[in-house]
Parts: sequence; C-alpha cells; structure tokens
Amino acid sequence: MITADPARAVKVLAQGNLCAIPTETVYGLAADASRESAISQVFSAKGRPSNHPLIVHIGQASVVNEWIQNLPEWAQLLIDEVWPGPLTVVGPRTTRALDSVTGGQDTVAVRMPDHVLTLGILDELASNHNIQGLVAPSANRFGHVSPTLAAHVEADLGMFLDAHGGLILDGGPCRLGVESTIVLATGAQPVVLRPGGITRKEIKHITKIDVADSFDEAPRVSGALASHYAPDAQVHLVDVLSLSSIPRSHTAGVIALSTVEVMDGFVELSRPTTDKQFAFELYSALRKADELGLENVYVVPPTDEELAEAINDRLKRAAH
Ligand code: TXA
Ligand code: MG
Repeated sequence: MITADPARAVKVLAQGNLCAIPTETVYGLAADASRESAISQVFSAKGRPSNHPLIVHIGQASVVNEWIQNLPEWAQLLIDEVWPGPLTVVGPRTTRALDSVTGGQDTVAVRMPDHVLTLGILDELASNHNIQGLVAPSANRFGHVSPTLAAHVEADLGMFLDAHGGLILDGGPCRLGVESTIVLATGAQPVVLRPGGITRKEIKHITKIDVADSFDEAPRVSGALASHYAPDAQVHLVDVLSLSSIPRSHTAGVIALSTVEVMDGFVELSRPTTDKQFAFELYSALRKADELGLENVYVVPPTDEELAEAINDRLKRAAH
C-alpha cells in the first residue's frame, strides 16, 4: 500500500479513491475535490466530523481563481511570494467549491504545497484528468498527532486504505513538520486562523499590513479545538526549572532543546538544536512516546525563534 510511484497515486486519485500524499508540512489524505464520494471517504477514514472544512490543494498558483473570488491584493502578494509553500489562504468561494469541502461556509481554503512528487501529481491530474484540486486534511485519525512519515500514515489509516483501494505515496520525511499557516483573506487585513510554517513577521513583511488574530473564526478550524494533535501519553508543558523537580521515571519522556540540561532517568524523545529541528521532530517524538508506552511527556517549549508560535500552539493542544 506504500508506494514511491506517483503514477500509481494519480491512477488511484483519478478513480475517486484516497491517496496519502507528502507535502513540506505534514502528510495529507488526498481525494478529488470535485467528487462527493471521494470526499466522504476522507471523513470516514479520519473519523472527522463532516462540518469541518477541508483545504483544497492545487498545482499552479493561478488556479486559485477557480476556487476563490475577489482575492484582496495583499493576499495575491502573499501567494506570489510564498507558493508553493506552507501558506493556506481562506477566501470567498466560487461555485466550484462543494459544500462538503467548505463545511457549508461561504469561504474556501486553498494552498499550493511544496513537494516535488505532489506537485507532479497535481499537474498530471489537472492536465489529463480534468481534476483541478485535491482536498487533503492531515493524514491522521481525527484529533491525533499529524503524520510526518509514510509509516505514521500507515499506523493511523493503513487498515482503512487497504480495505478501500487506497495508497500512501512515500515522499520521505516532511521538511517542516508543522502544518501550514492559515490566513483569512476576506478583508483589508490578514487574519491568522492557525499559526504555522510562515510566520506573522513574514506575512507583515510581504504585505506591509499588520496581522490580526481571530477568535471568532477559530471554532471553524478543527486544528483550533482545545484538544488536538494529542498522543495517548499525557503531555505536560514545563519550564527548565520545574523539569529539575519532576521525579525521574522510565515511563516519562522529555522533549527539549539540546541547550536544556536534562537529568538522567528520563527517556529522551527529542533533543533538537534549533526551533526548526524542534518542529521537524516534534510529531515523531510524540508518536514515539506512545510506541514506547510512556505515561507522561514533559516538553520544554521553545521561546524565542521564528517557528516558536506554531510549535507552542500545537503543544498547548497536545497537552490539553
Ligand atoms: O499543512 C497543512 O495545511 C496540511 C497539509 C496536509 O496540507 N493540512 C492540514 O489540513 O493541516 P487539516 O484538515 O488537518 O487542517 C486544515 C484546517 C482545519 O482545521 C479546517 O477547519 C481549516 O483548515 N479550514 C479549512 N477550510 C476553512 C475555511 N473555509 N475557514 C476556516 N478554516 C478552514
Ligand atoms: Mg489536522
């Protein structure tokens, strides 16, 4: 069921079945965005509530206009600068966007992922099968840790995919390891609905406009539910000082930057040297905690650098 052959992925998707695809952020569970039966398989496979909207993935930036109308100028600047890359734009939908994709809202989310295999598939589907987009939520069971390796997808969805003629396209480990930044593009100002691979600072730098947060929109983003991205082990966010006072145990794991001193007696799950590496290893480390049957995971979150906002957002939800 795991393949490295994009031609097999194209075939399965063109038939209306599911294929997990690699992206620069996390693996997505892809289906033809114009076919109801394919979309409903995505919801069943994930166990995801059907009112949660999906992101449409496209292979050419210009195709965004097939899905979104009246994009503000600042959003076009962002697209020109960042795509292909970890930015999802939410804008007013065209008639192409189905209710099952948008969750019945008047907006649709679109992104152009940056992975050579997946861009190849999207192009092939557009030119030879008249498929102008793939829906692709993260390829995990609903509420679980997102997958950054083909093996993670297999662990969560392998049984379903096997039983329904689905595939996993193996494109190696995801380069970033944390999801795309979701930006609402319906007004004069960018609104970040979910922090991710592109930072607020970068958005402001490109658009020259201040970036807003939205708490009203948050419930429509399933990744914004208080508990999400969670392993079975209990995740605790701690600072360096309290880590030293926690009783050592072989059922307790630690995720902390290598600059943090960790005493003997904990299971070291991940000791990254940078925030980038922290994001890259985070989801694998949380899954490893469950494989090892750990009860608790103590995480010292990063504080200063670029990706820290997205990492801290995911950690809070994993710890809820
Ligand atoms: O990096 C990513 O974005 C990955 C890769 C696979 O592309 N995808 C991803 O999809 O994280 P998912 O479904 O796990 O999270 C997408 C989020 C959901 O929380 C959903 O509620 C939100 O996007 N979303 C989709 N359409 C929306 C809309 N019209 N308005 C607000 N939020 C929307
Ligand atoms: Mg997700």
